[in-house]
Amino acid sequence: MKSDKQLIDETGIRSDGRKPDELRNVIIKAGVLHRADGSCYLEWGGNKVIAAVYGPREAIPRHSQNSLRAIVNARYNMAAFSVDDRKRPGPDRRSREISKVISEALEKVILTDYYPRAAIDVNIEVLNAEAGTRCAGLTAAGVALADAGIPLKDIPVACAAGKIGATEEDGTFTGGHVVLDLGKEEDNFGNADLPIAIAPRTNEILLLQMDGHLSSDEFERALDYAIKGCHDISKLQKEALLKKYNVSEGDE
Ligand code: CDP
Repeated sequence: MKSDKQLIDETGIRSDGRKPDELRNVIIKAGVLHRADGSCYLEWGGNKVIAAVYGPREAIPRHSQNSLRAIVNARYNMAAFSVDDRKRPGPDRRSREISKVISEALEKVILTDYYPRAAIDVNIEVLNAEAGTRCAGLTAAGVALADAGIPLKDIPVACAAGKIGATEEDGTFTGGHVVLDLGKEEDNFGNADLPIAIAPRTNEILLLQMDGHLSSDEFERALDYAIKGCHDISKLQKEALLKKYNVSEGDE
């Protein structure tokens, strides 16, 4: 992940017109599927994802059970039609990795010891992909878990920040510019991407991955941006849940 393509101009405006600390547009709807125990539809820029939660229910096969707590199985899947080149259906290395890191992130906020021997299945389907689908999927999963009434320490939320190329006024290319929430072109031609997930009440980090290179100073700035992005998205998650249950902010 390294290129010298200019993705931000000298006035700090990115190729899609956003400011460095501006998120893409996010829309969240809770409880969109009637057969799942909890669900969420989420649009984040051009990403469209659905998350559906089933359980807690008895874990099958029995040897997969943990006698002390529930197991959390998140399954991230990209639809064949979600990307420009048709994606071969079924799991691949990338989707297995994303499923694993999302399962581990969700496990940290679910009160799994309430449900020994149970399984909680979280299905994340990416219908349209445009950079940042693991963050979109995890954020939708957080809403779907809350919608399913699963006891949580907090509603997990994810967001990424990264670094994109820029040129100085005299035309020389600089190492880059730290920005919030990389878009498709920025993800393809940027210098680094740092997706994180947090428990917003405590800022506990539930997931942190990094693609590309950042100096320690850039890393700190990217982390601050991503945490701020998470808090903004967290508000939208809560609004979506309150809307579904017809509760206005004051009645909480
Ligand atoms: O989606 P996310 O940024 O979490 O993961 P990524 O592995 O960094 O993928 C970045 C983007 O590449 C995805 O959001 C898709 O838009 C695109 N992609 C694709 O076009 N075809 C794939 N098989 C995988 C990813």
